[in-house]
Amino acid sequence: MSTSVDGGAVTGGWSHAFARRARSRGGAELTAILAGSPPGVLSMTGGFPNPETFPTGVLDEIAARLLRDDAGVALQYSPCEGISSVREYLVERQEQLQGRRPELSELIVTSGGMECIALACQSLLDPGDTVAVEAPTYLGALMAFAGSEADVHGIPMDGDGLRVDVLEERLDAGLRPKLVYVIPEFQNPTGRTMSLPRRRALVDACRRHGVLIFEDVAYRELSFDGTALPSLWSLAPDVVMQAGTFSKVFFPGVRLGWAAGPADVIAQLAAAKQTSDQCAGGLGQRMVEEYGRAGHFERELPAARALYASHWAALEQAFRRHLPPGCTWTEPQGGFLTWLTLPEHVDTIAMRPAATAAGVAYVPGAPFYSGDEGRNELRLSFSHLGEADLDVAVERLAGVIRETAAGTAAGAASA
Ligand SMILES: Cc1ncc(COP(=O)(O)O)c(C=O)c1O
Repeated sequence: MSTSVDGGAVTGGWSHAFARRARSRGGAELTAILAGSPPGVLSMTGGFPNPETFPTGVLDEIAARLLRDDAGVALQYSPCEGISSVREYLVERQEQLQGRRPELSELIVTSGGMECIALACQSLLDPGDTVAVEAPTYLGALMAFAGSEADVHGIPMDGDGLRVDVLEERLDAGLRPKLVYVIPEFQNPTGRTMSLPRRRALVDACRRHGVLIFEDVAYRELSFDGTALPSLWSLAPDVVMQAGTFSKVFFPGVRLGWAAGPADVIAQLAAAKQTSDQCAGGLGQRMVEEYGRAGHFERELPAARALYASHWAALEQAFRRHLPPGCTWTEPQGGFLTWLTLPEHVDTIAMRPAATAAGVAYVPGAPFYSGDEGRNELRLSFSHLGEADLDVAVERLAGVIRETAAGTAAGAASA
């Protein structure tokens, strides 16, 4: 429909005014996940932290104290790079958790992990640039790269993470990505973790070819057993930029994260922040600092890890109990997510209405790829539902898979 002026009012919409990048962005799946599921549907869609882990009791006291004693900082605009005491705290925290201390010039505060991705896009990507990603990968990142009119190039994964041998072959054959975006721990969407030899191989390959690695550590602190492999940034700070977030270990409403990496890259991200939100919210920054300096992360995280480990154990039992033959799944060692592969002829986008009708929601696999893979795959989050509900959800899902598989098999036989 074209825009016209009718009786003094503009009708027909404004799509002619939309930027080219807005048309390539996509995003229906992410919008659906954030909108939630209808009542009665057991939702395994969002990578949402369990509200039981929200530190409401402690925050009550911290927020009251900040409002009483520190309103001049906490309620004011802050420097673009972050409040200096908060940056100092984050520098110390990276040293404690990753064994390497960034210089102040190598770290800024961001408004969450997603903003860090957006800042990287603004700072590093021109239309037509190539970004290499794990196939499949995080929807938000795929949308941000596509929205920057980048050419997104998926590299296959296996149980050890990104197939670095495939990446190297393609680099040797002339692929020239500006960035290689990876989520080494408990990856979104597959739940897989990149092994240490792969990490070393990745930094070696990217050093040799002069390619910047973009490491997203959203779930890094949520291993079930509390251990962590060395981060890519700690292995190779010269060639790695890291995006971190407090969404999964504190609460997403705080919208707070960090970017760490080579000083010249971080300076560009800080400059880009001047035209996004100028600064992350001061109240959230000071809350993270106060909470962290008082040792609450160390005190609270073991319970969160145990909760997610227990949810995963319940989900895996439910898989074994209910799923029909021909279904396989990844076995995460942390985080919120697992990835199911169904019999080849089952299309998880086509199956979704039947799943909703049966009272269970998942995210189909295809949107997590830049290519046309993932038709018979799907992502499940086990963070949010209680253990009894996880069992019921899998029982419902299994019924729908069985019916769909039988229906499509019958269809194929009669075709
Ligand atoms: C891999 C990954 N990176 C980044 C984000 C975004 O995090 P934030 O809430 O800090 O924007 C998410 C959120 O689900 C995620 O899964």
